[in-house]
Amino acid sequence: MDRKSIINDPEHGNKAEAFEAFDDIPTNPNLGRTIGDVINARYGRRDVMKGILGVSATTALFGTSAMIAPKQASAAAGGRYNFEELTWGNDEEHHIAEGYNADILLRWGDPITADAPEFDVMNQTAEAQLKQFGYNNDYVGFTALNDEGTRGLLCVNHEYTNEEVMFPGLGRQDRADFEGMTRELVDIEMAAHGGSVVEIAQGDDGKWALVRDSQYNRRITPHSTEMTISGPAAGHARMKTNADPEGMTVIGTVNNCAGGMTPWGTYLMAEENFHGYFWTDKVDAEGKPDISEQPEAASMKRYGVPGRWYAWGQYHDRWNIDKEPNEPNRWGWIVEVDPRNPDAAPIKHTALGRFRHEGAETTISSSGRLVVYSGDDNRFDYQYKYVSNGTVTDDAGFGSSLLSDGTLYVARFDADGTVEWMPLVHGEGPLTAENGFDSQADVMIDTRVAADLLGATPMDRPEDAQPGPDGTAYLMLTNNTRRKPDQVNAANPRAESSFGHIIEIKEDGGDHASPKGTWSILVKCGDPAIAEVGAQWNPETSENGWFGSPDNAAIDAEGRLWISTDQGSGWGKTGKSDGLYALETSGELRGTSKLFFRCPVGGELCGPYFHDSGETLFLAVQHPGTDGTKDFKGFERNSTFEDPATRWPDFDPAMPPRPSVVVVTKQGGGKIAV
Ligand code: FEO
Ligand code: CA
Ligand code: CA
Ligand code: CA
Repeated sequence: MDRKSIINDPEHGNKAEAFEAFDDIPTNPNLGRTIGDVINARYGRRDVMKGILGVSATTALFGTSAMIAPKQASAAAGGRYNFEELTWGNDEEHHIAEGYNADILLRWGDPITADAPEFDVMNQTAEAQLKQFGYNNDYVGFTALNDEGTRGLLCVNHEYTNEEVMFPGLGRQDRADFEGMTRELVDIEMAAHGGSVVEIAQGDDGKWALVRDSQYNRRITPHSTEMTISGPAAGHARMKTNADPEGMTVIGTVNNCAGGMTPWGTYLMAEENFHGYFWTDKVDAEGKPDISEQPEAASMKRYGVPGRWYAWGQYHDRWNIDKEPNEPNRWGWIVEVDPRNPDAAPIKHTALGRFRHEGAETTISSSGRLVVYSGDDNRFDYQYKYVSNGTVTDDAGFGSSLLSDGTLYVARFDADGTVEWMPLVHGEGPLTAENGFDSQADVMIDTRVAADLLGATPMDRPEDAQPGPDGTAYLMLTNNTRRKPDQVNAANPRAESSFGHIIEIKEDGGDHASPKGTWSILVKCGDPAIAEVGAQWNPETSENGWFGSPDNAAIDAEGRLWISTDQGSGWGKTGKSDGLYALETSGELRGTSKLFFRCPVGGELCGPYFHDSGETLFLAVQHPGTDGTKDFKGFERNSTFEDPATRWPDFDPAMPPRPSVVVVTKQGGGKIAV
């Protein structure tokens, strides 16, 4: 299917759903029926719940490790996550396990500076939005300002915007060739993207609140935040534009999905689907973008530029490749922000490579080096990690050379259970002038092309990659319905995977910097009661506990793994809202999952981030009321500003749904789930 057909397909209820469906189809024109469609056709959710499937179908699913796990009377009794599991479902509200508070901390539009205007959703302006909390909160990080950690800076990414529920009377724009968009609306969108740094403090009652007059509070946006460029690609000819003839500065960051905090307390923002923001007026006879005359055509093709999912290029030359052919090379990087210095221009660190970075989680290896794990979230793309040359010392700080002087590696997962991290270094192996790489700058700008040549393993959409204790790392492979049976490999074992899986890596010697490790599949996601799904969980996992489409992950103060999900418009295949799950990684309960929090309908769960105390958990509910609302019983249509599936979290008839950060604490205080 081409772009236009996907946009007009009633299956894709909003632009974000169409975007995800379209992404990288060109090499895979044959969508066919997904396993989820087969399941939906054969077994409605309700039939499954009634137990129509026999025991044999259920037991056939569990892998050998699960089969030999002895049965416990109750998972909770033997589990290390001490909470009463939430019941699965889907409705207009958010839900948290009993005994916990889940309070709204910050909503889209909340004023975050002392001089910010109050939110007026009917009369929004870019100027106001630049002083208000942005849209679609994704990554959340925290760095303390006092020893007790009761004051600190919350760092939040704002990934993208949903025009159909943000702006009154506008409706969906991709189907309307962006006819309703104006320069004013485009500028509001740009001002709603990027990130926020805000001071928050915990009161005597244990509740967290914004410190609105804090000197630290600021927005970082693609609208107007000037940034510098560091590393191998800084100043390279391919980074130069009319506005920046030196190739050293750029205005803003975009599509900031997940991210990370460095050991020195700075904030890393990953630039993910940057391709969607670029425009061209040159289209071929079929209406597809014509990049044949572009000097960067080969690179653009591999990165999906221009995506034309936003109208920004109609009003701002830098988003139009007809006018600025090098501009896309300046996006798709990892950005470092100094939350403690609002005057410091953020830095795009090109040594970490250019791709659709999902996140940038850091750790210090046993050998003292900085290691950053980052997935390239695209079907059939790769898992990367960056290792600094130097070791992390106490005087490392914002702009440290640890983020510019190091090696980027891409992963090859072999069938014997080993993972090899292959260095992306100019002059080594095929990364030579003969293959189009004249310098390390070329290798970094065309990271994907370099990784193709090295024979990296094409993965099922690498989302968050979370380093854990002792050289472990957990990779969220969210789904890949386009993998054909003849394209499966050991590390991506299911064709047409609607529900994804999680890989556990153990780096050799417990050293995150090691170029080799071993891997295993921790869980294969989806409903274990449906044989065709091929899910693999510890049998102690209840009907509430299994999930689909892992996206973000966090390790808490106890070293335990938590997973948040993003099923997109596909949640109808499970009937479950996206949520947060506690997933056992060791002992006889390894592979057991429990539901802790769930989103309001149409929302995806991001964050999660644990405060060092283990007593506060930050979650981000992204795009509430939007995805897959045609499957929401009793609603069964697409949301608009005037008619949304939920008005979470305000439930004010004059307010659309608002993406919001939620703070979880235990009632009466104490560590979460301990
Ligand atoms: Fe923005 Fe890969 O999720
Ligand atoms: Ca994500
Ligand atoms: Ca994470
Ligand atoms: Ca996702």
